[in-house]
Amino acid sequence: MRAKKAGVTVPEPYAFLNNILVLEYIGKDDIAPPLNKAHIKDPKKVFDTIIKETKKLYKDAGLVHADLSQFNILMDDGKVVLIDFGQATLPTHPHADEFLERDVRNICNYFSKLGVKCDEKNVIEQIRG
Ligand SMILES: Nc1ncnc2c1ncn2[C@@H]1O[C@H](COP(=O)(O)OP(=O)(O)OP(=O)(O)O)[C@@H](O)[C@H]1O
Ligand SMILES: [Mg+2]
Repeated sequence: MRAKKAGVTVPEPYAFLNNILVLEYIGKDDIAPPLNKAHIKDPKKVFDTIIKETKKLYKDAGLVHADLSQFNILMDDGKVVLIDFGQATLPTHPHADEFLERDVRNICNYFSKLGVKCDEKNVIEQIRG
């Protein structure tokens, strides 16, 4: 709800009961694939969008995802949708910096293999700045 309110591209949360969460379905006729299974035409563009969304999440929603990877990002017809917020933490959490660094490392590692240049320190500064 925090992420959605801040305008981060996440599924709309409809309802929850105890540990059950009902979310908007992401996909059309077929369910949206995670990044690792999607066909990516322009990796740099997708990478930049993920960093932009991560910054919005940090700055506007006040959250670190803490489990960000190619498995927790859906590609909905070219649109990036972040999912799986079960481990998300506030930036004041004692390990928030580590989690943010790990999130960025995961994304950088993945996109480096697709030929995108990524300076982890630079990206973290960009997100925190
Ligand atoms: N809102 C959604 N719309 C469409 N598919 C979704 C949505 N949320 C989750 N999924 C699908 O379900 C999978 C698992 O969801 P999620 O990442 O939230 O849980 P998880 O705890 O990581 O589960 P697992 O360990 O089985 O991957 C995702 O990789 C994605 O394919
Ligand atoms: Mg997951």
